[in-house]
Amino acid sequence: MEANKQRSQNWFGREGKDGFIYRAWMKNQGVPPHQFQGKPVIGICNTWSELTPCNAHFRELAVAVKNGIYEAGGYPVEFPVMSLGETLMKPTAMLYRNLVSMDVEESIRANPMDGVVLLCGCDKTTPALVMGASSVNLPTIVVSGGPMLTGKHKGRDIGTSDIWRFSEQHRAGKMTQEEMLMAEAGMCRSSGHCAVMGTASTMASMVESLGLSLPENAAIPAADARRKVLAHLSGMRIVEMVKENRKLSDILTKEAFENAIMANAAIGGSTNFVIHLLAIAGRIGVKLSMEDFERVAAKIPLLVNLQPSGKYFMEDLYYAGGIPAVLKELKGVLNNDCLTVNGKTVQENYEQRECYNREVIATIDKPFNQISGVIVLKGNLCEHGAVIKPSAATPALLQHEGRAVVFENIEDYKHRIDDPALDVDENSVLVLKNVGPKGYPGMPEVGNMGIPTKLLEKGVTDMVRISDGRMSGTGFGTVVLHVSPEAAVGGTLGIVESGDVIVLDVANRKLELKVSDEEIQQRKAKWKSTVNIVERGYVHLYQQHVQQAHLGADFDFLNGCSGGDVVRDSH
Ligand code: FES
Ligand code: MG
Repeated sequence: MEANKQRSQNWFGREGKDGFIYRAWMKNQGVPPHQFQGKPVIGICNTWSELTPCNAHFRELAVAVKNGIYEAGGYPVEFPVMSLGETLMKPTAMLYRNLVSMDVEESIRANPMDGVVLLCGCDKTTPALVMGASSVNLPTIVVSGGPMLTGKHKGRDIGTSDIWRFSEQHRAGKMTQEEMLMAEAGMCRSSGHCAVMGTASTMASMVESLGLSLPENAAIPAADARRKVLAHLSGMRIVEMVKENRKLSDILTKEAFENAIMANAAIGGSTNFVIHLLAIAGRIGVKLSMEDFERVAAKIPLLVNLQPSGKYFMEDLYYAGGIPAVLKELKGVLNNDCLTVNGKTVQENYEQRECYNREVIATIDKPFNQISGVIVLKGNLCEHGAVIKPSAATPALLQHEGRAVVFENIEDYKHRIDDPALDVDENSVLVLKNVGPKGYPGMPEVGNMGIPTKLLEKGVTDMVRISDGRMSGTGFGTVVLHVSPEAAVGGTLGIVESGDVIVLDVANRKLELKVSDEEIQQRKAKWKSTVNIVERGYVHLYQQHVQQAHLGADFDFLNGCSGGDVVRDSH
């Protein structure tokens, strides 16, 4: 492509047959040629779907983006990609994240667009879209759909994290089915994604702290009129970004990734953040490893008092000043000069911001909790690492030694967990195998497995739980996740037996199986995979190519960026 020439001109600016074809069918949409010819053509990548309730308001949001694009002299083209709804998709939306990223990448590259607006909401829609766009690297801006309004139940504020509490109360006979129905109606009472600091809010905050969205993008509720204003302004801004040729790779530097890691610690973001950030870094070509999370976030305390690590909701975070007010507290440690999509630095974006509620956003000198972030564990049980979110755990269990109660897979767990004969007490360590990327397949959010009913009845509310799966960002407990290598590929997790002693030592970043190296090797020599390998379709591709959690669970062949050039024409 010639320098200075708009990418879309390779379609609409052509003479002869090719230009005829590229333009003629655009005209059937009732558009006069001056609308799109020679103007920055902006794709709006829309994950709207009624099967993704968190993103069901995105057609309206797209209208606001379009208005902004028109106002700035660009031409919007909205296109759908596969949408990922966390609540309805089986066996887990994570199975399809890489598929969507391929859909996004190829849709952008194959079509006449000069820049892209990514409409992201429910958990996986954000990483999938950012990953795909990173592999093309055009000027790109993210508009998130925004969180739901805070849920209300019996005079109390509730959100997704309460589901886990309600479920345990229901199982222990302390909450009736009628009350459960009332709670579910009161919880999701507006458009938007989960209102706690779950994965969707974590991802929206990640995008903002990376500099990929306008300031305030993360926290404005979906139902707040200012969400549409932000969408409109983002539409205006992307047109300018195309003129400035400001690409994703100009924003997504190693320093920007470090900023996102620090912000994630301060907000108490989801453990899923680690996996998705690693995958995005792999696409844009930034070297990022599990060690970076530990190194960068080690000294950052928890500032934001939101569920599941605290008490409040995203709506409260917005009213308290949002992510800009959080970033301002991190001034002393952030890479303040990082460029963001609006052409300003991180520091310029937060400088004029204020915090309006110190209950919700604490100061760096008087943090909400000294413990924060996602801690990376190492040891013979997880040679390539595992993660735990200490702010959502029980402090007393962060140093723990206990006997393993092993479940070979999710069916085994469901079958036996409430068996009165199960040999388990509050000091036991629940171990769940074969819920990793390849094993399940798709690495579902089952890592915060429920506690045995007989212990719930005794008043036990938390236990150490270990698996190669993930946990919902809304979940909590002393839960070790993302064990790599996973059981299904022959990791040590696969040879743990009930009765083995496991040591969790979060202070020293250790997860150890107290079994001799010799014994481990003997067991591994006898170990056979029990995983069902699927022979056709997408799941076949997934199982062949998915990498382990410490590599972001991306496909091996998707690492890197192929750019935006396509040399051949379609006719
Ligand atoms: Fe969509 Fe929680 S279910 S964000
Ligand atoms: Mg989730």
